[in-house]
Amino acid sequence: MEVRERYRYFLKDSVRLTIDFSLTDQSRGIAPPPIEKPYPAETERIDLVPRAAWQGIPGIDLLSAIADRSSHRTFLAEPFTLEEVSFLLWATQGIRQKVSDSTAFRTVPSAGCRHALETYLCILNVAGLEQGIYRYLPVEHQLLVVSKEKNLSERITRATLNQSFIGKAPLTFVWTTIPYRMEWRYDIAAHKVIALDAGHVCQNLYLAVAAIGAGTCAVAAYHQDRMDELLGVDGQDEFTLYLAPVGKI
Ligand SMILES: Cc1cc2nc3c(=O)[nH]c(=O)nc-3n(C[C@H](O)[C@H](O)[C@H](O)COP(=O)(O)O)c2cc1C
Repeated sequence: MEVRERYRYFLKDSVRLTIDFSLTDQSRGIAPPPIEKPYPAETERIDLVPRAAWQGIPGIDLLSAIADRSSHRTFLAEPFTLEEVSFLLWATQGIRQKVSDSTAFRTVPSAGCRHALETYLCILNVAGLEQGIYRYLPVEHQLLVVSKEKNLSERITRATLNQSFIGKAPLTFVWTTIPYRMEWRYDIAAHKVIALDAGHVCQNLYLAVAAIGAGTCAVAAYHQDRMDELLGVDGQDEFTLYLAPVGKI
């Protein structure tokens, strides 16, 4: 098979047809992986604002949000509030119904409801939060402190191939994947649907930012190792997939 054909093959349903579904980890009775990546109990966590308590999310009608959606690469230096961050995390990965420790329905769809993504925030300017890398805990609706890196702006700019607008954004969403969450059910057919899932998440972010006078830009151009190192993920069982800097416009 020619190289391009091999890569195109990844997009086809033909991959699924090669799988013996009686041999997947799920069919063999292996326990499902958890909804979210586990963390040490003593790690610092920050409570996010629950939906019922939001007061400063003005909203926007859906037709306008869709009609006016576009990518933004210039942002005001205005900080975000914790409430706005809570809203954007809920809109992109929030849980609307937890079924079990391995299954939850969220505000976005996912193949087989496997939700093989984790959300990290690179925070430069959010009121009340120190600069650093944080991870969203959708089950607890909290932020987990990953690191309080000081020269974050330079590091994320370098890790995104010198796209300087990213280092100027008050916050940047970085989605990683833990592929096994999807592979447990779909084996080698997992990877196409993980990529499809990431699209839904980022599109929800595009629409949600419109409700708070902000903008975003999908970013797939980045340096794999530098991004993974910045987030502190191993690059094998979890790695960076997609980014979206966010700022007021
Ligand atoms: C998968 C994907 C990857 C993208 N990667 C980048 C990127 O690395 N840098 C960038 O500036 N824009 C990136 N974009 C934004 C596109 O350039 C933008 O969506 C396109 O030019 C159309 O403009 P619009 O979003 O305003 O309609 C990406 C968009 C998508 C969907």
